[in-house]
Amino acid sequence: MNRLEVDTSPRWVERVAERPLELLSDHAHCELRAAASAQALIVKYPEDVELVLRMSAVAREELEHFERVLGVLAKRGAGLLPARANPYAEGLLAARAHKKEELLLDRLLIAALIEARSLERFVLLAEHLADRELAALYRELVPSEAGHQALFVQLARGRYPEARVHARLAELRAVEARVIQALAFEVRMHSGDVQPATSAR
Ligand SMILES: [Fe+2]
Ligand SMILES: [Fe+2]
Repeated sequence: MNRLEVDTSPRWVERVAERPLELLSDHAHCELRAAASAQALIVKYPEDVELVLRMSAVAREELEHFERVLGVLAKRGAGLLPARANPYAEGLLAARAHKKEELLLDRLLIAALIEARSLERFVLLAEHLADRELAALYRELVPSEAGHQALFVQLARGRYPEARVHARLAELRAVEARVIQALAFEVRMHSGDVQPATSAR
């Protein structure tokens, strides 16, 4: 697993569990955004056949997740709330390289870190939510998101020297920690309420 510098606090799960429909709507928007980001990579790097095929599959899976979450919302008589600005992703994307040669490296590693944070939170939700339907939803999504975060790192390793990937991942991991530490708690998948990592992963 792609380790992160700060852990989500156990309080975060308790707090988002109080307003499940808002969490689900925000989660659905995250899935939709993930599908859009994968498609954006196809448009930016059409000559990279492996990347195009992999991102097409990721986009399809993210849309399946989107529909799965919409289904849970519908069952509860709810739907999507309006999309909101996403300061977490924006904070990470603001750290992207200005050098054109390294832009793909940063796009891939930022995607890997966003997937890693989502994965960390899905695991917490699967383990601790008292709402069994929601716990089951998050348990079901864990393997796919784990696959995505590993895929983005693997694609980076296939295109840049190992040492460069390693060093840049460490820098961006520090950016991720700074961005999420600066965010306030909200009922959202990528909101604040983190603590220093307690265990080495
Ligand atoms: Fe997803
Ligand atoms: Fe994903």
